Amino acid sequence: MGSTTRDDIYILPEATAASLILTHPTEDEKRRTWTLNHKEWGGALTLQEYLKREPYLTTVPLSRDGGMTHWILTDSSWTVENGGDRPVLASCESISKRVLVASPNDTTVREGIGHGVGSVFTYPEFRGYRYAGRMLNELGPALRKWRTEIHNGQDAICSALWSDIGKAYYAKKGWAPFPSLHAEFSVPNNQTPDNDEQTNGKGNVAPVTYDNLESLCAQDEQLLREKILRSAKETGRTSVAFAPDHDTLRWHLFREDFIAAILFKSTPQQADVMTCIKGALAGSEGRRVWALWSRNYYGGKGSPADNVAKNTLYILRLVIEPEEKEEKEGEPSEDILTAFTAVMQTALREAKTWHLGKVDLWNPTPVVKRLIERSGLQHGWVDRDEESIPSMMWYGDEDVREIEWVVNEKYCWC
Ligand SMILES: CC(C)(COP(=O)(O)OP(=O)(O)OC[C@H]1O[C@@H](n2cnc3c(N)ncnc32)[C@H](O)[C@@H]1OP(=O)(O)O)[C@@H](O)C(=O)NCCC(=O)NCCS
Repeated sequence: MGSTTRDDIYILPEATAASLILTHPTEDEKRRTWTLNHKEWGGALTLQEYLKREPYLTTVPLSRDGGMTHWILTDSSWTVENGGDRPVLASCESISKRVLVASPNDTTVREGIGHGVGSVFTYPEFRGYRYAGRMLNELGPALRKWRTEIHNGQDAICSALWSDIGKAYYAKKGWAPFPSLHAEFSVPNNQTPDNDEQTNGKGNVAPVTYDNLESLCAQDEQLLREKILRSAKETGRTSVAFAPDHDTLRWHLFREDFIAAILFKSTPQQADVMTCIKGALAGSEGRRVWALWSRNYYGGKGSPADNVAKNTLYILRLVIEPEEKEEKEGEPSEDILTAFTAVMQTALREAKTWHLGKVDLWNPTPVVKRLIERSGLQHGWVDRDEESIPSMMWYGDEDVREIEWVVNEKYCWC
């Protein structure tokens, strides 16, 4: 390529060069990368705040104890001992997650490892030289064998990423795009915590907090295991889901608590940031509906209250306890509709309280679509074709296009 950098010490190799390696960054290299990609992923945080959040995210459930891995593409001839300023040609992260899978003839669900990939990044001065492409070409097979010691030496089942650059780029590298539809509920301007009976706790709605989260996750996983087996049988396809387990949900919640604690510092809501509800639950035992959610604040000048239109409450996971029964009957029962509507109204009220202008629910099932239509809640449908496109690389024998990704909801994202 002939171009040089760092006082002509480093000559940039071709992206096809045999000397390029996928490896792990030093602490200095991580910091250099975060400093550069703050513009992409810092959201509402300043650079200094972002430089605290990224290391913090290696200490929370799911990503701590080696659950998260930082990757870089660099040249094997460049040593870190030489002042430690070797060029980082491309970078990304992965987080290992539990994955549940069943094939059409299975009677029990198998468990394995899946890796979520995030923050794919090329330093601005190195863009267009195919370095990200080379890194991804190395990463796909590397993840198949990564951290297999935590699961009896078995290969990973899949890896997934959420593309912000459309459907084509990652598909060419082997991560196939999956459905990216969401329902978007706008938060009514006139809704206040006091003018809506159901959202006021009078509609049999209970809060989800850190206290009951673990048991709800366990119950969800049990229901999901049955759903995966059903899906495999009914579709005749291998069906897979990321486990919506306690660690996975807490990863999202700890992340959002960290951000909210900064954004609401010195405001009247400061005291409520950590104790605010993480979801809502309605209905009677065995016929419950619950949602878990997180607050997301986008960049821009000013406080959260100045960016309401862009700020979003994401439903991480929506559970209909008797979903099989509702699926069979084709039309959701009245008690489930009432519970669903009460849960979503609570989400809308929370969104209003926390300066979030909309509530997004990813890839609702046919039952949930029907509930949305019948709930009377104001909503629209968004079929994303650029941002957060769920994309999967499959490590089994099947063609990835033949895989059913069950509950492809926001909790899977990283
Ligand atoms: C996207 C990014 C990682 C690509 O890095 P790179 O090293 O220049 O990528 P490569 O040279 O391997 O590939 C270039 C390809 O990426 C495509 N690309 C780059 N940015 C793109 C974008 N915003 N939207 C769609 N395609 C994009 C180019 O069009 C080109 O496509 P081609 O292969 O069909 O020619 C880099 O531009 C970057 O860091 N962007 C900012 C962060 C980001 O958006 N990351 C992706 C998050 S999912």
